[in-house]
Amino acid sequence: MDTRSEPTLDRLDAKAQHLLFTGARTANTFADTPVTDAELSDIWELAKWAPTSANSQPLRVLFVRPGPGRDRLVKHMNEGNRAKTASAPAVAVLAQDTEFHTHIPTVLPFRPELKDVFAGNDTMRTSTATFNATLQAGYFILAVRAHGLAAGPMSGFDAAGVDAEFFPDGRHRSILVVNIGHPGKDPWLGRLPRLPHDDVVQWI
Ligand SMILES: Cc1cc2nc3c(=O)[nH]c(=O)nc-3n(C[C@H](O)[C@H](O)[C@H](O)COP(=O)(O)O)c2cc1C
Repeated sequence: MDTRSEPTLDRLDAKAQHLLFTGARTANTFADTPVTDAELSDIWELAKWAPTSANSQPLRVLFVRPGPGRDRLVKHMNEGNRAKTASAPAVAVLAQDTEFHTHIPTVLPFRPELKDVFAGNDTMRTSTATFNATLQAGYFILAVRAHGLAAGPMSGFDAAGVDAEFFPDGRHRSILVVNIGHPGKDPWLGRLPRLPHDDVVQWI
């Protein structure tokens, strides 16, 4: 490959931008239409390309299907999130791996010694896990949308309860639960306003 050449990147057309951003909504009800295991696996195969610091990739995903697994999850959701979680054909529990650094020699082969730096610095390890897992969670929502499915992200749940239920060895800490499916009846609340451009963006 000629490393001196300057690559040209494609741009998403308006339809794709609508699917991922401008027209994408947070779903609150779901149709009975099933979501297949292949769709769920493919969602991760897209989301895994999210950039992370030191390529650390601390996010872990537990897909929960209808049945006893979903019942075990629903009881830890806040009251207002129970009905929608109980109706979602698939739910993802997103968690951070507190021992993500054990994979550093694999994911950052040119700097394997960073594993020991993380091992010896609890503050840096925890902040890296939290920040990057959260960043990956955002990409996960986009990947759900890219598959023509609606996402319903929720932080309203008892994280300690979910961790004890599904991650009893203490290594994984849940950060977000995401309902996944095709939208049901009256799936959207009214679109809430986004901050005006000038309240957010500065130029210098
Ligand atoms: C991190 C996060 C946590 C959220 N937690 C909840 C929740 O616990 N319950 C809920 O009904 N909606 C929850 N939401 C949904 C937001 O309220 C919703 O995404 C926001 O109002 C924008 O809606 P829109 O995507 O339809 O424009 C959460 C969203 C995010 C990203």
